[in-house]
Amino acid sequence: MRHVTSTSTDPALLVGLDAPDDAGVYEVAPGVALVQTVDFFTPIVDDPHDWGRIAAANALSDVYAMGGKPVSALNLVGWPRALDFALLGRVLEGAGAICAAAGVAILGGHSVDDPEPKFGLAVTGTVDPGKIVRKTGARPGDVLILTKPLGTGIISSGIKEGRVASETVSRAVGVMTALNRGAAEAMVEHGASAATDVTGYGLIGHLSQMLGDHLSVRLETARVPIIADAIELASEGILPGGSRRNREATAHQVRAPGVDESRLAVLFDAQTSGGLLIAISPDRAEYLLAAVRRDAPEAQAIGRFTEGDGTIEMAA
Ligand code: CO
Ligand code: CO
Repeated sequence: MRHVTSTSTDPALLVGLDAPDDAGVYEVAPGVALVQTVDFFTPIVDDPHDWGRIAAANALSDVYAMGGKPVSALNLVGWPRALDFALLGRVLEGAGAICAAAGVAILGGHSVDDPEPKFGLAVTGTVDPGKIVRKTGARPGDVLILTKPLGTGIISSGIKEGRVASETVSRAVGVMTALNRGAAEAMVEHGASAATDVTGYGLIGHLSQMLGDHLSVRLETARVPIIADAIELASEGILPGGSRRNREATAHQVRAPGVDESRLAVLFDAQTSGGLLIAISPDRAEYLLAAVRRDAPEAQAIGRFTEGDGTIEMAA
């Protein structure tokens, strides 16, 4: 939706294409707004059940990133005629399990014949219009919290090359199937000033969207949670094309003197179903972090916003 612009004068449209966010928000009755988002992609792990689980957790995440509560979903399927439909059954079961755990009802879906398998969901949630968490609301002095470790893009690439140990696959699947629900509930309760989820643009790309041109951020690079093997795989040269492009796109904003090259690669790594990036005022940051960690034990405070011009300053 980032590549489309529109100008709507509909007063019920609270978040739309004029200032794109993680999901669109539309007020349907006083005090009740719908949060809507859609996402789908090609397989990123070998196990079809895990792929379905990851796709579902990923699709729900954009509703959580707005401070919303997902309530219903529709399956979107592209499937090759020649590929065993029992595998598709496993994908749908995986998605169903995650949605059931999240309290989300799958109402139906649509499939098309497709030479390459694709799967995802369109998700509808609800949010109190007064409690929408935008990606651009951070203020100077706010603390930046990241709720999940990074590295799933590099690890998915490594899986395709057969270079990832099975424990690391399980670890990455665990990270990608973890719901951002607990973190989202905590950030709404504690009054976060901004949030987005870390997906295809990587930590730095999504952080850059939070900054706009009036904020900068100082990142404590060593505090950023990372799945251990991702740094090693990056040092062996495993890097998805998307992650390389992320780095090119934000290079002009980033100052990273002395930061280890493999660690830097992970900070730009395109994620699937990554964690929430949350901005919170410094007096409430400790409480929010403690609340988030009940569900997301690897969450860390990784930096501090300042007034600025979009610069991402990294401390080694
Ligand atoms: Co998002
Ligand atoms: Co999205």
